[in-house]
Amino acid sequence: MDNKGMPSHHGVKEDRIKQYPNETMRILNERASCRQFSDRSIEPETLEQILEAGVHSPTGGNLQPYSIIKIENAEKRQKLADMCGQKFIGDAPVNLLFCIDWHRLRRWSEIEKAPFSAMCSFRHFWISFQDTIICAQNICTAADALGLGSVYIGTIMEFFKEIKDMFRFPKGVFPVVLLCLGYAKTSPFVRRKLGVRTVVHSEEYHELSDSDLTSVFNEKYPNIRIEITDKRLARIEEVCNIVHGHAFSKECLNRIQENGYINAAQRYFGLHYCADVMPEGNDDFLKIMEEYGFHWFKKYRPHKEE
Ligand SMILES: Cc1cc2nc3c(=O)[nH]c(=O)nc-3n(C[C@H](O)[C@H](O)[C@H](O)COP(=O)(O)O)c2cc1C
Repeated sequence: MDNKGMPSHHGVKEDRIKQYPNETMRILNERASCRQFSDRSIEPETLEQILEAGVHSPTGGNLQPYSIIKIENAEKRQKLADMCGQKFIGDAPVNLLFCIDWHRLRRWSEIEKAPFSAMCSFRHFWISFQDTIICAQNICTAADALGLGSVYIGTIMEFFKEIKDMFRFPKGVFPVVLLCLGYAKTSPFVRRKLGVRTVVHSEEYHELSDSDLTSVFNEKYPNIRIEITDKRLARIEEVCNIVHGHAFSKECLNRIQENGYINAAQRYFGLHYCADVMPEGNDDFLKIMEEYGFHWFKKYRPHKEE
């Protein structure tokens, strides 16, 4: 870690160490998620500066349809840590819960006698989701710039019901992501990414050949070769059978035996974000959205005078 508490080059290949034109470019290129937080609390003025940078973010129509719940209370942080099964949530001195917030704009419209239907509109939802994330990411960058570390927690989406009660959300407020914030205890590992040549398409979408595609992912995940165990094999077989049927399942198992390991893609979608489980609960999520006051998936019926 350097003297500003920023991530070091730890984990970055020599050929990727670059000179940057300024500090902002270095911070953006060397950022990394932090999951080990020191006991040092965040100075109130530092936190204020970080939050100020967040609320200055771009936002559709300059509406700012989001709120941030600042969680410093140790019990609440611990509860979130237990809920999500991620200890460092409790170790981070500040958790920020980023939420879409149409409630505030609905109230404003009511007071000002303006028509309002944003909670029934997918378009509004879509933009507000982007607004919320853009604000969150600017906060991450501001935190990096002031020598802090952060990590997003997406697992909160498994606990939408509990979170609504825990933070006393009115209808129209919907949690998007949690951010743990604090000073890093150890230097976070800077991870490899797919490069510009893979991610950026010049003028139109360009398909990679199978071999180019395989090699860019191999470069990104050079160390993911998961050991074969009976339990893992049985699980992958089960996932493949459910999602693509028996013939595919055989192909997958053959590939594992040929390689002598479970590859990164098989690990991601067969063992981690399991392809059989991920689509489950879609209907429940829609119901939860309704409970939160969002109705964009139902036919909208405008009020009609008798
Ligand atoms: C939407 C979102 C959700 C995430 N959820 C989690 C999480 O629940 N737990 C965790 O440890 N990291 C989480 N992360 C962090 C990612 O694992 C991390 O960004 C990724 O592995 C790349 O590493 P890097 O941020 O160090 O570049 C999340 C990141 C994003 C953007």
